[in-house]
Amino acid sequence: MADSIYIDEDVGIDESSRAGTSDSPFKSLQFAYLQQAEPEKATYLTRKSATGAVPEGSDDAARLEWKPAAKSALKKAHNLFAAQRKKAAKEKEQLALREKEEAERRAVLEEARKVVIEEDPGLPSAQRIRLYQKDVKLRPASGDGERGARVRVLGRVHRERKQKDILFLTLRDGYGFLQCVLGPPLSKSYDALTMTRETSVEIFGELCEVPAGAHAPDGRELQADFFRVLAAGKAAGGKDAITNRVSAGGDTQTLLDLRHLTLRGEVASKVMFVRDAVEFAFHTAYKEERLRKVSPPALVQTQVEGGATLFKFDYYGQNAFLTQSSQLYLETCLPSMGDVYCVEKSFRAEKSLTRRHLSEYTHIEAELDFITFDDLLNHLEAVVCRVLELVMADPVVGGYVKELNKDFTPPERPFLRMKYADAIDWLREHGIPNEDGEEHKFGDDIAEAAERRMTDAINRPIFLTHFPVEIKAFYMQKDQDDKRVTESVDCLMPGVGEIVGGSMRIFDYDELMAAFERTGIDSGPYYWYTDQRKYGSSPHGGYGLGLERFLAWLCKQHTVRDCCLYPRYMGRCTP
Ligand code: 4AD
Repeated sequence: MADSIYIDEDVGIDESSRAGTSDSPFKSLQFAYLQQAEPEKATYLTRKSATGAVPEGSDDAARLEWKPAAKSALKKAHNLFAAQRKKAAKEKEQLALREKEEAERRAVLEEARKVVIEEDPGLPSAQRIRLYQKDVKLRPASGDGERGARVRVLGRVHRERKQKDILFLTLRDGYGFLQCVLGPPLSKSYDALTMTRETSVEIFGELCEVPAGAHAPDGRELQADFFRVLAAGKAAGGKDAITNRVSAGGDTQTLLDLRHLTLRGEVASKVMFVRDAVEFAFHTAYKEERLRKVSPPALVQTQVEGGATLFKFDYYGQNAFLTQSSQLYLETCLPSMGDVYCVEKSFRAEKSLTRRHLSEYTHIEAELDFITFDDLLNHLEAVVCRVLELVMADPVVGGYVKELNKDFTPPERPFLRMKYADAIDWLREHGIPNEDGEEHKFGDDIAEAAERRMTDAINRPIFLTHFPVEIKAFYMQKDQDDKRVTESVDCLMPGVGEIVGGSMRIFDYDELMAAFERTGIDSGPYYWYTDQRKYGSSPHGGYGLGLERFLAWLCKQHTVRDCCLYPRYMGRCTP
């Protein structure tokens, strides 16, 4: 390359193929400088233009001349060159280091492939245990010579940690966790060195108390003498490792798209364990109260809670809906079965995205015959408290509730009973406006935000009763002492708001027909419902409890979306 490097800011081109001569100049000093092996040694001649478009004799003629590059420009070019050289050197060094490490790792793995591990036939045969099993002999930490049981466990790697030659694996099987300790030669095998989270493994060894000062689930660990990765092979690692796909605090929508993986996390799975226990506790509590379980249809042709949230579909050419509530069907069971309940899905085409609305939710509904409104409230309170008692009495599940909601204490009985009219006064006194930003007045629907503010301030379960006829469903019985209001109840919980809606039902035929008329609902398709009032009507009532809302309260979850397996809400129907 020439000793003098030419830069023409007009027609030069910044390409490495250029010679940098006056016939083949670069466009910028910086680029020209970076092309040189020893840039400090060259001289740089620059000019503004060589197009010849400048008329001779004009002032711009000077622009045609090659001049030495300005000192300041040279300094700038040099600084950039120096910085780039430094960066390149560092990158080269890092690459070399990576290659060295990679080569070392390859060599270690090559060696590891030669390590053959086999189960020692001389050892006592291993007893298969589930990770929850506690009735297994442990070798005492004191090491007084007693042996622990030799066991065989199956599970997925929940966590893995290497410490020198020892590989610690925490196994998970849905029933518990167990720390497994793999020393040499197991830890030097290929499978141990390439172990990834979520891999399913089978591990054999002796169960031991953990040494004093060390911590492990249930205070024990499995000193492995043999292990194998199960047939399906290792779980994805590297970029595709589960920890790179889902992590606590990750983007909400991504976590929901990957709910099948999120569910493996400790918080999500604890909520699901509590859910299982709560559902079971409701069954137990209802059986104790002698209610019978029934299973009403999900595909229906009648509404219960207003047309706005109906999911319509074509049913062999007829209009049909996904059920909003099984209530009306439960009412039809009373004459033959006595008090009944169901745990079924309800569907609401909610057009808003709130933290307590789902499109599909689990609805726990009960219907009781020959009762008063007070009986209804007392029953509801007793069932909610009994369910909590049963759940908290389970040492494992009660423990999960305490981990998720550390301040949880079962509510005191009786629950606060507050009439709607008193709630309106309370909201006015506390300056909480209605949806139009005005002072609350009798007849207003208490919106979600106001309801929550009041519930959070009172900070205990509230039975809010006696809502005005106009803002409640058509089937609700009027209060005989004040016909403006219904014998209705919402149970409100701090942090969530309404978790239960219930009422006494209109049991008089004519009154029910008038309610259909008033609300503009055609009573024709309800013949099976209105017939109940023709053939031995009775004072009766019931309620529906949203399981996900109950769990959001109990497990202190921000949203009901985290309280079901695969949430459905406006815009989401996957996975
Ligand atoms: O107050 P709701 O609409 O009452 C009924 O459906 C009655 N027919 C029930 C009955 O008396 N058998 O709903 C009852 C409960 C609410 O308190 C709430 O907990 C839950 O169902 N719920 C929802 N949960 C999640 N997402 C939604 N979109 C919900 N809509 C109601």
